[in-house]
This record gives sequence, structure tokens and C-alpha cells, in this order.
Amino acid sequence: MPDIKPTTSLEEIVSLAKRRGFVYQTSEIYGGLANAYEYGPAGVEILRKIKNLWWDFFISKREDMLGLDSQIILHPKTWEASGHVGSFTDPMVEDKVSHKRYRADHLIEAWLAKNPINNPPSVESMKSEEMNRFLQENKVKSPDGNEISEVKNFNLLFESSIGVVADESSKVYLRGETAQGIFSNFKQILDSNRVKLPFGVGQVGKSFRNEITTGQFVFRTLEFEQAEIEYFFDPETSDWQALFNDWQEKMWYFVTEILGIDASRLRWRRHEDSERSFYSKDTYDLEYLYPFGWKELWGIAYRTDYDLKQHMQFSGKNLEYTDPFTMKKFVPHVIEPAVGINRLFLMVLCDAFHQDESKNRLVLKLDQRLAPYQLAVFPLLKNKEELVAKAREVFVNLSKKYRVAWDERGNIGKRYLSQDELGTPYCVTIDFDTLEKGTVTIRRRDDASQEIVELAELEQKLALMLA
Ligand code: GLY
Repeated sequence: MPDIKPTTSLEEIVSLAKRRGFVYQTSEIYGGLANAYEYGPAGVEILRKIKNLWWDFFISKREDMLGLDSQIILHPKTWEASGHVGSFTDPMVEDKVSHKRYRADHLIEAWLAKNPINNPPSVESMKSEEMNRFLQENKVKSPDGNEISEVKNFNLLFESSIGVVADESSKVYLRGETAQGIFSNFKQILDSNRVKLPFGVGQVGKSFRNEITTGQFVFRTLEFEQAEIEYFFDPETSDWQALFNDWQEKMWYFVTEILGIDASRLRWRRHEDSERSFYSKDTYDLEYLYPFGWKELWGIAYRTDYDLKQHMQFSGKNLEYTDPFTMKKFVPHVIEPAVGINRLFLMVLCDAFHQDESKNRLVLKLDQRLAPYQLAVFPLLKNKEELVAKAREVFVNLSKKYRVAWDERGNIGKRYLSQDELGTPYCVTIDFDTLEKGTVTIRRRDDASQEIVELAELEQKLALMLA
């Protein structure tokens, strides 16, 4: 396998994100909040576009898919049924001096990176006892060099309470995954829609996990946005493996063809038996080579009929499907492709990052469908009234069709550099020739080349370039 490297370092991405308004630290004026980030004016545009493209491809254009928007706070029994209250945990150790907590698996990964050994264990599939043994045998210390405690499991669900009295009966959870809203609405979806297996339900929404691992920017955060699909089918009439493969192909297509990501930094990783949830028959991760290594971008799991059966047991309601032809009643099985929108966002930012050494510039080569602005319009000089008035006219006109940036600060070179960093595919400059000869300059982001075109033909030209 060729030696593939990440496109850049996380520091470069974080610095660009802050400088150009893609991502800010949450509550920065109060000193920040760990594992929490805000999407600035440029970032929110990309985020919305990713969500829209996902919805369009996986829901709107498919007859066999329905959408849903369920609540963040669901009945607390949901999370008992799903197993989250009992076993949605991370293996943690505590620094015996500072009392800071760390993920045991991350300490082991960091130790292995510094102390390479032959046949290293697969950390992802280690149970708590194995992690404990590894940490003790190798005398692994905390990042501050102190002794650490034994591995304990720490529940990731955020708790809250409804009403004025905070006791056990008022306890609720912020959802740990959007999937459970789909399972718990399954009966209502069946009763209110003409659906026939196989069919799927997808939704996009916030989920919450009490993550303590820091340093992975928007990859791992307390609140994040999931886009999950539960695809229901009859295991007797549909071949699960064929459906699973088909979904894998769709995921790959979405990332490479719709988001335009370089396939050399993508790979599939199959979960080992010990790593898989006990109810899952097969799980794969589509991984991307982030600046901090190969990490899960998008998971796909065959969850069998586990979730629906759990909800039947905990709710006492019948969640069976009746086949309209044979009248056979059964609990459908499900395949779940689940992605974090924020992970797609970080991948998009990393993949677009280009250092153009020859021109000493940083360029974000975003697919034009994802760029925060498709165009920028500038007057060559800001103190020439006629130029500014003409440029405003062009700007207002193009803004009817595109998201257009306006910039009149500084010199033209600096404006190009700032649009390159924002990923704006084309800049249009209004100069004296516009007033005298009716021409404008179009400048291309990717190769910094320029072309002079008739103003009268500008719209038509741009329509082809931004098709
Ligand atoms: N539903 C899968 C996940 O939340 O990761």
C-alpha cells in the first residue's frame, strides 16, 4: 500500500478554521469549554450543505426512504431498552495525583505509538480487563507522568430532569444516538404511511455524549450531529449481505462522488468479533485518514431485530410488521448506516486543504457545491465611486442566484488570498475596463488563472462554470 499521509496537521486546520470563521471555540470569552465548538459564518454554510446533500441523496431521491425528526429528550425507558443506561460506557482511568480522567484505550494507543512492539494488540477490541492488564504490565502512566487507577467504565449519557424536583422519577437523558427515535416511532410510522419492506427511515439531528477525550477538534465533541438510517427488511426474503453491500456502495459513492473526497484517504475496516456489539452480526467502519490517523467516519451495522424487540419488551407494545401478501407477522431486521455530520465536515476541510508553494498561498479546494461562497465580487479600488457602484450592481444581480462574498478592503491580492482560504471558486473584479469596455476579470481559485470576459456574458459564463 502506498505511503498515504494526512493532507495536513490538525494545528493548520484549527488555525485556518478560526482565522476564516469556519469553527470557533465554544464560550471563548469565558476561557472555552472542552470538546465544544461553534460553526462560524463560513463553517455553517458547509455544514448545511453537507446535510442537504445527505438528505437529498438518501431520503428525497429514494422511494424506499422516509424522513423523521424525533426529540432529543425521549421517554427515559427508551435508553433502558436500548442498553445505553446499562452499557453505553467508555473505559476510563484516573490520574492518582491530578484526578484528571483519561480514556484507557487512548492511553494504550499513545503508549504503543511511542513504544512500537511486534504484533501490537488491537486496542479497539480490548475488554476492560485486558486494558487493565496491559496498563499494569507496561507500567503506563498518565500524560502528566503520574500513577493511574484501575480501568472503570464511565457512562456517556448526559442526564437531566424534567420539572422542579430533581429525583429519580424526573430523570431524563439527552439522546445518545438519533437511532432510538426511529425505533420507538416504528409503529406510528407503519400505521401512518403506506410502507412495504424493505424500507428505511432517516433523520439528522443532535446527539450528546459525555466525552472527555480532548484534542480531536470537531471529531469528538459533547454534542454532535448524526445522520442515521435504519433500513428495515424481512430476513427471510431479503439477503442481508446484499443489502449491506449495497449500502456500503452508497456510502462510498456519497463521500467520493457527491462530497468529492480523494478515495486514497478512505478505507473500510471490519470490526473484529470482540469489538462488535453483541446484537450486531456485522459492522464496518468507513475510515478517513484524519490528521490524527485513520478514524471512523461512517459506521454500518447489521443490528438484527434487537432494538425493536427490546422496545417491544420495555413498552409492552407490539412492533411487528404484517406482510400485506402473506399476512406473516414478524419483527423486521435492520441495517444501520450512521454518520456524524461533524466528521464529514472535518474530512471535507482536511481534504480541501492545499498549500500552493509556488504561489505562497493556502487554497481550500472545496467542491463548489460545498463552498461557503460560490463567488466573490470586488471593485478594483474602494475609493472610486463609479467602480464601487458598478461592482455593487454586479454583486446584487449575482446574489439573486449565488451566495456571493463582497470585499473592498485592502488590495486585490489580499482579497484573493482570503477568498482562497474560504474556498471561493471564482472571484469577479470590476475595474476601469468594465466602465470603458464593458469587461470584467474572472479569477479561478484552483490555479489562480485569470480571464477577461464581457460583462454582458458574465452570467451565462458563470452558469456553465458553476453548473
Ligand atoms: N447509532 C450508531 C451510533 O450512534 O454510533
